[in-house]
Amino acid sequence: MYNNIKFEKNEGLATVTINRPKAMNALNEDVLNELLIVFHSIAKDDDVKAVIVTGEGKAFVAGADIAQMSKLSALEGRKMMSLGHEVMNYIENIEKPVIAAVNGFALGGGCELSLACDIRIASTKAKFGQPEVGLGIIPGFGGTQRLARLVGKGMAKYLIMTAEIIGADEAYRIGLVEKLVEPEELIDTAVKTARTIMSKAPIAVGTAITAINKGFDLGMAEASAFEIETFTTAFGSDDKSEGMDAFLNKRKAEFKNR
Ligand code: HXC
Repeated sequence: MYNNIKFEKNEGLATVTINRPKAMNALNEDVLNELLIVFHSIAKDDDVKAVIVTGEGKAFVAGADIAQMSKLSALEGRKMMSLGHEVMNYIENIEKPVIAAVNGFALGGGCELSLACDIRIASTKAKFGQPEVGLGIIPGFGGTQRLARLVGKGMAKYLIMTAEIIGADEAYRIGLVEKLVEPEELIDTAVKTARTIMSKAPIAVGTAITAINKGFDLGMAEASAFEIETFTTAFGSDDKSEGMDAFLNKRKAEFKNR
């Protein structure tokens, strides 16, 4: 069904592996379209509670496909950029936890893909960077915005203007990565993290993603009001009754739709 990605599902946990190792998993339009299709199907699939995104081989994703981009006019480039934005926005806003398991190079559009995920877990072999200015362009899959929001404006400007490729330890130090593990522990750690989140109330987790994402771009007053709305959604769910009853009766909560 897919030519450039692998999709697996195991007890509610989906794994999407970008699978173009000969081109360092570079994102061309076909890969972007397949990512959009797979995430649309994940959104609709009630059996999927969480997602891991990773790369086949030695790269996570080494960026948008330079060979393809080199042939595009400005208008065609804009179309590809818009598709990239559609993919990243969709991944960011899906109300299911999405974990990037960054196994290797996460450069340009690859770093941006990791930024669109909720959580980044990196192998010590991972490398991050936004090398676009060396190609005469700037990050175009949301990187100028998401990177600044995650690591701060100054560090984002530093990384984007110098095009420096940093190691996983530095990425961890600056907050671009939430967890750093040995390469052989990467997938296990991502699975364990996903399963921990999956053991919590699914509506609460999904609502928290939306509250954080939407609230982040609002002023404090509006963001607080938005939290009240989203909080109320979670508070009105059966999971709230179950979670609180389980606590009070000293038993393990059994959430619906787990
Ligand atoms: C197309 C790519 C690619 C890319 C690697 N390859 N990255 N092809 N687009 N982004 C291809 C190489 O051309 C090569 O193909 C094969 O993958 C293996 O790569 P090598 O360079 O031989 O491997 P290595 O020496 O190990 O170096 C790995 C690397 C390097 C450091 C990741 O490949 C690299 O610098 N890649 C480009 C990174 C980059 O600039 N990314 C940002 C792209 S712009 P052949 O056929 O020779 O074997 C971007 C903008 C997003 O992402 C927004 C756009 C709208």
